Amino acid sequence: MPESALFVYVTCQVGAEPALKNEVARVCPALRFAFSRPGFLTFKLAPHASLPENWSDRLVFARAAGQCLGKVQGTTPENRARTVWELLTPVPATELHVWPRDRYTPGYRDYEPGLTAESQEIERFLLSQRPAVSTESAPAEVQESPAGLRPAGAADGTNPSVSETPLVADVIVVEPEEWWVGCHKLQTRVSRLPGGLSTAQLPETAVSRAWLKMEEAVNWSAFPLEAGQTVVEIGSAPGGASQYLLSRGLKVIGVDPAEMAPAVLADPQFRHIRKRSKEVPRSEFIGVDWLTCDVNLPPNYTLDTVKAIVAHPGVRFKGLLLTLKLVEWSLADEIPKFLSRIRSWGFRDVTARQLHHNRQEICVAATGFKAPKPHPPSGAGARRPSASKSKTRSTGKPGSRPGKPRAGRPRPAKPKPQD
Ligand SMILES: C[S@@+](CC[C@H](N)C(=O)[O-])C[C@H]1O[C@@H](n2cnc3c(N)ncnc32)[C@H](O)[C@@H]1O
Repeated sequence: MPESALFVYVTCQVGAEPALKNEVARVCPALRFAFSRPGFLTFKLAPHASLPENWSDRLVFARAAGQCLGKVQGTTPENRARTVWELLTPVPATELHVWPRDRYTPGYRDYEPGLTAESQEIERFLLSQRPAVSTESAPAEVQESPAGLRPAGAADGTNPSVSETPLVADVIVVEPEEWWVGCHKLQTRVSRLPGGLSTAQLPETAVSRAWLKMEEAVNWSAFPLEAGQTVVEIGSAPGGASQYLLSRGLKVIGVDPAEMAPAVLADPQFRHIRKRSKEVPRSEFIGVDWLTCDVNLPPNYTLDTVKAIVAHPGVRFKGLLLTLKLVEWSLADEIPKFLSRIRSWGFRDVTARQLHHNRQEICVAATGFKAPKPHPPSGAGARRPSASKSKTRSTGKPGSRPGKPRAGRPRPAKPKPQD
């Protein structure tokens, strides 16, 4: 980014602004709050301070973020377009992202954030008004196309060729006649999507909008799901998320005491365990590749539920996708603790994001599992006996309780479920 950057913009869902401000203060203390509208905030960088390279990826509530170049409020669309291109002159961007700020809290009167006909029209208009680029002076990457910039649709969020082009020009339609201009680096999958907005579409056959959440979570996490693998879904009813996973060729084990939609039950790759997760024998999870969990419980209960499964010897998931419901916004401040808890189970890469399709909740992706070393038992007289001392008189094998003779083979110690 150009060195003159003094302001950054961050967009989020309406309602998440206080949580985002707290997060910015914690993660990027060099940023001082400057301006906000619902779903759109700017921050000023303290003099002589700099931001870490991946600052915005560490903000769970930031849907999109970048350097802020200025506000545009011309009286006519032509005037506004001219100012947009003037602000963007020093930015060697090869792509243009135009999107609206959210108008309402997701779900309010069925409101769903996303691109609008108006923002798409503004994008077309801006591209039509772009001044001609002198091919002699333009950087090589700008010379790629006659217009110098591609519309956002040129990148679908997965096009690897886009990674060669480092910057995207941003126009955020904060009000119909008030546009904010910025730019951001193409670093992650979501940075390739205008406004970080998922392009997932809800199929007519989907039994719940959880399809959208699951599709977005899978794309964001970049988990390498493969057809034929098995995923267990805790909290699977009525089944939109399972339908998405089935559409990817996965086998799904749905755990939920509630009824699944008949369309999901009819799929031969789906198996319903109609129970609460704590009633399911842990052996059911052995050999399963992935775990997803979306239960309507506060975060610590959700984490207790998942921990009781992942702590079972023999269970080894490649990754977890968890929805944590922020039943109160104050829980947002505890997100670092929730993520540390998941790391303590042995997952090395744990990241969180409030997805476009999340309501008052966040998505956590955990991967890189390595079984943690068992902690020595705590409490008086609970020192771990040496291997020779742990042999009992009855079995002579390590692991059984000393002084308690038992018939037959000793059973391995069971972890105590917390849910
Ligand atoms: C938000 S809904 C899940 C939506 C679902 N993933 C879909 O795709 O349609 C939450 C579900 O969690 C289930 N649930 C709550 N506690 C649970 C538990 N301990 N074990 C399994 N399911 C649970 C509820 O019965 C409810 O169906």
